[in-house]
Amino acid sequence: MVALRAALIASLVALACASPATRNLVLHESRDGVPDGYVKSGSASPDANLKLRIALVQGDMAGLEKALYDVSTPSSSLYGQHLSKQEVEEYVKPKQESVDAVNQWLSSEGISASTISPAGDWLQFSIPVSKANELFDADFSVFTHSESGKQAVRTLSYSIPQELVGHLDLVHPTITFPNPYSHLPVVSSPAPKNVTVDAAVPSSCARTVTPTCLQDLYGIPTTPATESSNRLAVSGFIEQYANQADLRTFLRSYRTDISSSTTFTLETIDGGSNPQSGYDAGVEANLDIQYTVGLATGVPTSFISVGEDFQDGDLEGFLDIINYLLDMDQPQQVLTTSYGQNENTVSRSLANNLCNAYMQLGARGTSILFASGDGGVSGSQSSSCRNFVPTFPSGCPYMTSVGATTGINPETAADFSSGGFSNYWGVPSYQSSAVSSYLSSIGSTNSGRFNSSGRGFPDVSAQGENVAIVVDGSREGVAGTSCSSPIFASIVSLLNDELIAAGMSPLGFLNPFLYSTGASAFNDVTSGDNPGCSTNGFSATSGWDPVTGLGTPNYAKLRTAVGL
Ligand SMILES: *[C@@H]1O[C@H](CO)[C@@H](O)[C@H](O)[C@H]1NC(C)=O
Ligand SMILES: *[C@@H]1O[C@H](CO)[C@@H](O)[C@H](O)[C@H]1NC(C)=O
Repeated sequence: MVALRAALIASLVALACASPATRNLVLHESRDGVPDGYVKSGSASPDANLKLRIALVQGDMAGLEKALYDVSTPSSSLYGQHLSKQEVEEYVKPKQESVDAVNQWLSSEGISASTISPAGDWLQFSIPVSKANELFDADFSVFTHSESGKQAVRTLSYSIPQELVGHLDLVHPTITFPNPYSHLPVVSSPAPKNVTVDAAVPSSCARTVTPTCLQDLYGIPTTPATESSNRLAVSGFIEQYANQADLRTFLRSYRTDISSSTTFTLETIDGGSNPQSGYDAGVEANLDIQYTVGLATGVPTSFISVGEDFQDGDLEGFLDIINYLLDMDQPQQVLTTSYGQNENTVSRSLANNLCNAYMQLGARGTSILFASGDGGVSGSQSSSCRNFVPTFPSGCPYMTSVGATTGINPETAADFSSGGFSNYWGVPSYQSSAVSSYLSSIGSTNSGRFNSSGRGFPDVSAQGENVAIVVDGSREGVAGTSCSSPIFASIVSLLNDELIAAGMSPLGFLNPFLYSTGASAFNDVTSGDNPGCSTNGFSATSGWDPVTGLGTPNYAKLRTAVGL
């Protein structure tokens, strides 16, 4: 007995001291070198604490995908019958053997983790760099982005124990680097340019794009929404704050028909806040709030300010805001986000996991809109490139990507409007005929520079240049797809208000509707292109195109298309 016990202790000690190689670690994710613009600037202090998150393999995402399409496709008998919180969690929650395997491993390593998602598929814990290096056979180092100075502790590869393969989906942050540049709207000429006016152009659009111009151009109702259960959420990241005084000035200038004290509700996560000094007013946050509160008349609107407690990039916040909404019994029916980054900066596993989060929220009945990016075919910002750079999360099939137009009669593609084809996700069936028509129309143009089997984006577009906002008390004109996403989101919210008032379901995940019964409810944009990577990019054309999507909204036609 005694001898046996001694042998057991010896083997336990041996196990604890074993080098990673003998612990049967399997390479899980790696990247080919340091991403563009970053350099390895030193090793990470072994004692520094790393906040790590691990995702468990989710239970039945194929089942949830089918359920999502059933409730989002107009021809389906289940259209509009969105899933409850419990129903979605039932699909997403990891299998018991995955939970057991991961818990056993964590406790054998003396790690206590907390659950950070309602379905239990994400866990979080802090460990020293030295322990993380040993646990995952990683080389966590400090990487610095030369131009912006942004620093991050990352590793170029990591491994996981053999027994967790098939149970552990990914570890973050590891090989996904933070977005060095914030994807923000460009402040264009503060002196608005004059648009040539003729009889076909609303005179409200003569100088700048304002709420009145958009109401005239797209036929958006000015009368207040009536349904208090119908709500709209605006994402706020990277210390972008929405200013109340600026919103009042904006409404006094551009919505003289409604009370200038109309405002938004603040919700905060991850230590977020919304300081109100004029100096703190963010161009992006003010734009997003002014073109929701100022356009989705009467729709209760929240600004969800995501703090930086757990992040050195946007992506932890991208996950946390969705998990925050998924944890609600009644999440907002529309979420607009004007932040994003290049697809190739996000690991496939993390991109896929975030995309699955949009699938979950879509199944609950929330329409998820993102700005497509401002670098044409060269990515979320203009960059030098040979091959076109798709943006994230526009390539995810379970969200709606919004591009930008400019000019009034006719609207043309804004040249910065990001669009193209994902390298991570294939063409979803709702889009396959739109994409194949476009691809056959361009022949061999740009061939070899983009993935012709990828999901095409954007899905739709709206005005994105010379858009009037108020920041720190002054009026400015801004440009970017950041303008287009809140504009489109407001239209969806107003349609939802009418649907709910008529006893019908809100629209939820939009794309299967947009590409079928909704397709003819858009103003087709057929001129302009999105240059980048030393090419002219893609051209807008009749029907769907990867610059302006299906086109810009016609509210009256959309009303009919949704069955009102
Ligand atoms: C735009 O039009 C206004 C009103 O007609 C005029 O006063 C202004 O000078 C014009 N601005 C430019 C830049 O042409
Ligand atoms: C092109 O897209 C397909 C479909 O998503 C994907 O499987 C493939 O890996 C992509 N090719 C490249 C070179 O990224």
